[in-house]
Amino acid sequence: MQIVELISKKRDGEALTTEQIDWLIDQYTRDTIPDYQMAAWLMAVYWRGMDARETSDLTLAMMRSGEQLRVRDIVTPVVDKHSTGGVGDKVTLAVAPLTAACGVAVSKMTGRGLGHTGGTVDKLEAIDGFRATLSRTEFIDILTKHNIVLAGQSQDLAPADGKMYALRDVTATVSSLSLIATSIMSKKLAIGSSHLLLDVKFGSGAFMKTQEQARELAVAMVEIGKLAGMHTVAAITSMEQPLGYAVGNALEMAEAIKILHGRGPRDISELCYHEVAELLVMTGNAPGMSEAKQQVERAVRSGAGVAKLAEVIAAQGGDAGQVEQPSLLPAAPVRSMVVAPRSGYIAGIDAEKIGLVSMSLGAGRFKKGDPIDHRTGLILQAKLGDQLRAGEPLVEVHARTESEAESVHDALLACYRWSEASVTAGPLIGEVIH
Ligand code: URA
Repeated sequence: MQIVELISKKRDGEALTTEQIDWLIDQYTRDTIPDYQMAAWLMAVYWRGMDARETSDLTLAMMRSGEQLRVRDIVTPVVDKHSTGGVGDKVTLAVAPLTAACGVAVSKMTGRGLGHTGGTVDKLEAIDGFRATLSRTEFIDILTKHNIVLAGQSQDLAPADGKMYALRDVTATVSSLSLIATSIMSKKLAIGSSHLLLDVKFGSGAFMKTQEQARELAVAMVEIGKLAGMHTVAAITSMEQPLGYAVGNALEMAEAIKILHGRGPRDISELCYHEVAELLVMTGNAPGMSEAKQQVERAVRSGAGVAKLAEVIAAQGGDAGQVEQPSLLPAAPVRSMVVAPRSGYIAGIDAEKIGLVSMSLGAGRFKKGDPIDHRTGLILQAKLGDQLRAGEPLVEVHARTESEAESVHDALLACYRWSEASVTAGPLIGEVIH
């Protein structure tokens, strides 16, 4: 087989056979196809797309490029949950322990943040001592003992995706629907849970800017999951403004703990409880959504959800005392309040810009490998549709120094749109694709 043939075939809009896709990924993983030829093929896919069979074949070939955990052979049912990422997205930190507290095992590998969206591992590492890098044996031991494990993404899982993602990043081919779907799903299939819930976000703070694009991505991923025998459901959810009030690692951890206690912001709490209920129904642990929601409520009221978070954090070397007493979480030395510049209703909060401000305070990475400061970030004091008078609190800045806090003042005000007339925020959950 010749790589030039496969590039020209895709350039001309033809579908590659299963054998051709297997060969391409195998050779690229072994470094026998150079990056410049793979980049040309990726650009051809970017323009021409792939049909459902090719997309599924590519995902499976990428999955087979490395280790396969097949956690469902060890515990079953076992669920995985993946969010396409957003600003203030601490949903996994609440959904995973609540689901485990309701009796369903959760096996979660999760990434670090890059750019304006945060990563779940970074939020977990706000806890002193927490260890996200686990060996395969530790991963399985913690899952079987505690019914939950929350680890960083293993480099041995779908290594073809690691190489291809790095190449896409520098060849303007990240934002291809087929390539995003194969990239996410190859890692999920390599972990090998029995059930997967996808949270596909749309809006200013998300990869997919419109609900229509998010739906297309969700449908493609649900289809791949089904073809590979993994029960997959996708919720399409809004990222038109940051989720909840907290943005930044320790601040988001504290907010997730509030959600687990039933004292979190209403919008994100409802989303978390809905996702747990969806997982309980998918796995047959509840006959329908209303029974599932009652189970979730019991796990919140009894404290079983928050206790499960403390348990898994302790199992992974972290200080469970910081979950029991969030005031012990690391805190930034400077807090300053930005106030409303005018009276009116908040008509828009640009989630992407809020994420960038939080990054500039040290809470996120500009490039892979940058250190982050877990203490810094923002706490919004009001959300879309709220009415404020000039001078009332708008955003609390958590910074390392007075001058860093001062430096983001104007950028924060530029994140807001105001209206004289009242404004209503749209629903957080758009639709669910089964
Ligand atoms: N997340 C991934 O894992 N891969 C993509 O291509 C995009 C987002």
